[in-house]
Amino acid sequence: MFPFLKKKKNSNALLTNDTQVPEHIAIIMDGNGRWAKQRKMPRIKGHYEGMQTVKAITRHASDIGVKYLTLYAFSTENWSRPKDEVNYLMKLPGDFLSTFLPELIEKNVKVQTIGFIDQLPEHTRLAVLEAIEQTKHNTGLTLVFALNYGGRKEIVSAVQMIAAQYKENAIDLSEINEENFSQYLFTKDIPDPELLIRTSGEERLSNFLIWQSSYSEFVFVDTLWPDFDAHALDECIEIYHNRHRRFGGL
Ligand code: IPE
Ligand code: IPE
Ligand code: MG
Repeated sequence: MFPFLKKKKNSNALLTNDTQVPEHIAIIMDGNGRWAKQRKMPRIKGHYEGMQTVKAITRHASDIGVKYLTLYAFSTENWSRPKDEVNYLMKLPGDFLSTFLPELIEKNVKVQTIGFIDQLPEHTRLAVLEAIEQTKHNTGLTLVFALNYGGRKEIVSAVQMIAAQYKENAIDLSEINEENFSQYLFTKDIPDPELLIRTSGEERLSNFLIWQSSYSEFVFVDTLWPDFDAHALDECIEIYHNRHRRFGGL
């Protein structure tokens, strides 16, 4: 895919000391279903394999010093999938955490979520809340799961909160600016992602971090999520490193 980068063999060889590792990487993990279909397997097998990739990428992101890793796990639009698939996806956070939480704790990883968590099935919500609780004092990588997340609903909900406060004279019009507005989003304590990756060859945001990604560097790769690995992440970081971010300037 990037022939000039393919020569290096082991996964850590790609990044040099000069490589600028983004503080926040956000990933649209896409292609689980197609991965399974190619193998004549049920789609949920693709999601299971995708969960193994989440573990590998979390380990690697932690090892190379990423501060925030945000993973799009379930969108507000994904409820429209067949019931069996939705049920399986809602089981995954619990499965993931029951097998991986000890390692997350050992690696000093802090688990957080963005999204409308209240609307998740109770077993999903409780598994996630337990992981958040058990890792809340950790100071290494912050692993953010976007669960029942939608960028437009996030913005609308921010507007509703602001309108309610305005009605009660709790805020003034002049206080509504970009910085304050960000404080009403799920990401209020998280810096904007410098690098946003989408796997599987699709090149769209699908309602992910639409406010926060306004100046992110986008890297689209053809690899299906279950096949994405540490080396592939390094390639994306290398591409990011070679980009020239201008923020409207010169
Ligand atoms: C991404 O894989 C995982 C979720 C959206 C939950 P998909 O399930 O979208 O896989 P494709 O796009 O159908 O291959
Ligand atoms: C985006 O992928 C959502 C997640 C990765 C969780 P989708 O597969 O749902 O997006 P579309 O439908 O192709 O836009
Ligand atoms: Mg998809």
